[in-house]
Amino acid sequence: GEGRLWGGRFADGPAEALAKLSASVHFDWVLAPYDIAGSRAHARVLHKAGLLTADELTRMLAGLDLLEEDVASGDFVGTVADEDVHSALERGLIERLGADLGGKLRAGRSRNDQVATLFRMYLRDHARTIGGLLAELQDALVGLAEAHPDVAMPGRTHLQHAQPVLFAHHMLAHVQPLARDAERLRQWDTRTAVSPYGSGALAGSSLGLDPEAVAADLGFEHGSVGNSIDGTASRDFVAEFAFITAMIGVNLSRIAEEIIIWNTKEFSFVTLHDAFSTGSSIMPQKKNPDIAELARGKSGRLIGNLTGLMATLKALPLAYNRDLQEDKEPVFDSCETLEVLLPAFTGMMATLTVNRERMEELAPAGFSLATDIAEWLVKQGVPFRVAHEVAGECVKVCEAEGIELDQLTDDQFAKISEHLKPEVRTVLNVPGALASRSGRGGTAPSAVAVQLAELKADLATQ
Ligand code: ARG
Repeated sequence: GEGRLWGGRFADGPAEALAKLSASVHFDWVLAPYDIAGSRAHARVLHKAGLLTADELTRMLAGLDLLEEDVASGDFVGTVADEDVHSALERGLIERLGADLGGKLRAGRSRNDQVATLFRMYLRDHARTIGGLLAELQDALVGLAEAHPDVAMPGRTHLQHAQPVLFAHHMLAHVQPLARDAERLRQWDTRTAVSPYGSGALAGSSLGLDPEAVAADLGFEHGSVGNSIDGTASRDFVAEFAFITAMIGVNLSRIAEEIIIWNTKEFSFVTLHDAFSTGSSIMPQKKNPDIAELARGKSGRLIGNLTGLMATLKALPLAYNRDLQEDKEPVFDSCETLEVLLPAFTGMMATLTVNRERMEELAPAGFSLATDIAEWLVKQGVPFRVAHEVAGECVKVCEAEGIELDQLTDDQFAKISEHLKPEVRTVLNVPGALASRSGRGGTAPSAVAVQLAELKADLATQ
């Protein structure tokens, strides 16, 4: 068992096929800085427990500093034979300090509690990075809303014209879920600020080590875990992180889909900046919304990462099982995916041009003011059931004559219903329809201004 962490009871080394299957060092090497931080904290509690002398602690910390430099410079790297980052770094420490001192650090810890702790540290850092990138996207969308405070557009349900809305209202409707995702990340971080170090393989340690001291040392604000079995076996913190990143992907894909549609010749609602669109190798006229399409595609990948992880965890008995080595690549990929996607997506949104004329031309089309006729009638004391019927009749006449609602004559109105006085025309225009929806959360410019202020205040605290 030369050089391996578990050689003692084995007569033979692992088969090459096993070593190849078992190795994780090619992907878990990103945990190396966290592993070294964990080793420093562990050395300190070993010293506090009387298991390292003051001199040994000093030399141990110096050895870890050296190892950290060599890892950072690339002078020290793990190999397939090391199996994983934890064993590689123990080898590195022993190479620098000798086996007598270097071999003392493993007392009272296991790769099981190490990996559970370091993985939390890694994801907490990336949660902050992703939260920052998400704030930049929210800023870009809020900026679009702010720059177009009075532009109307057709609001849709079932992708059909429904009622006119403010473009700013629609943009902020995309900001709201992103703000909730950012909040989810912050709440996840609070829940994940608990350290499993000191759980050992599963049962805790008999050496009188102080898990709370390690937790404080490693920046876990909420101390150490209450159950060593749970500390080493649970990965719901990973699944929850994978969900939040998948949800961000799904939310981006809903914006993306609209951008793709709005960018078509038929819609022509927006024009993408050249720097954030791509051309075609054969069709010289093409300008494609690839960023939006990639966002739409990558949302599938993020969902896959979540789903694969859940399948790995399903029915897994307590405590640690090697299956759990499959927990890292999916979420490492989710981090990488969002950290590459979000800046491009933000750039695309921040630089697109809004075609105000086109949006406003279509805002009243498709009889999108029919609800306004019905609600005007309700204000005249007509029951909504009747009002709905009457407004529907107006649409029917318009469709037959090929005209819009505001082109109905006084006579036509009167013929449809005695309640339809010429004054109904006051609501048959887009600005009037928008301004009338002034309750909280509505599309009136005054209500949207309130929403904008709330979102900006929320963003300022992120
Ligand atoms: N590399 C493993 C993982 O990522 C940690 C090592 C635990 N291995 C073990 N045989 N107990 O989960």
